[in-house]
Amino acid sequence: MTALTEKLNGVKILPVVCIKSQKELDTFLTALLKTPVRCVEITLRHPFAPKAIEFIKENCPEITVGAGTVVTKEIFKTAIKSGADFFVSPGFDKRIIKMANRKGLLFLPGVSTPTEILTAKNFGLKTLKLFPAECSGGVSLLNLYKGAFPDVDFIPTGGITKDNLVSYALCDNVVACGGSFMIPKMSLENGNVTEIVSAIENCMTVLNLASERCVATDEIC
Ligand code: 3PG
Repeated sequence: MTALTEKLNGVKILPVVCIKSQKELDTFLTALLKTPVRCVEITLRHPFAPKAIEFIKENCPEITVGAGTVVTKEIFKTAIKSGADFFVSPGFDKRIIKMANRKGLLFLPGVSTPTEILTAKNFGLKTLKLFPAECSGGVSLLNLYKGAFPDVDFIPTGGITKDNLVSYALCDNVVACGGSFMIPKMSLENGNVTEIVSAIENCMTVLNLASERCVATDEIC
């Protein structure tokens, strides 16, 4: 079991969210804590993001926070200072991965090609973000990678929606599915806790139903 699998605690979704203010953060946390989800990715695409991560680590230690959009060493340093538990990038930068390995930090680089996967494996990484998942080949690509890279697990992100979530989650090389649709932007901006809880719960419901169906029909999922 990888460190990330433990943090996901059996929940196969990783909500990806950009938080722009304390008000949005309060809405987000109130909603999240009403659900079983305890692992999230906060993208570093807004100046408030590091503060949001710091706040969560200080006030909600039960939540595991990934810092997303780590695309430069400088952003990585900011993310480390914020106290994030793990780090995510849309791409693969050897310099950043070397830094993460030196510091013993859990880093999920974005990959989409076999060469990138091989390079990541050579750096000792076995859990990778497949990005952009849907337009890189989606579920078909994940199934092909299962044969070529049986020891690699993926967190597909980019283009995952409520309609294709189940097909991704049922791939046995998928640890969790990442997506921004799980925390609707408008609901966050409008402070609508109910809508956010319901978006997350809908994901959980479809995933639970799909896994019950697999057990009942003895499908290979
Ligand atoms: C990411 O940052 O991982 C992606 O932008 C999220 O992609 P999505 O908005 O298609 O879920």
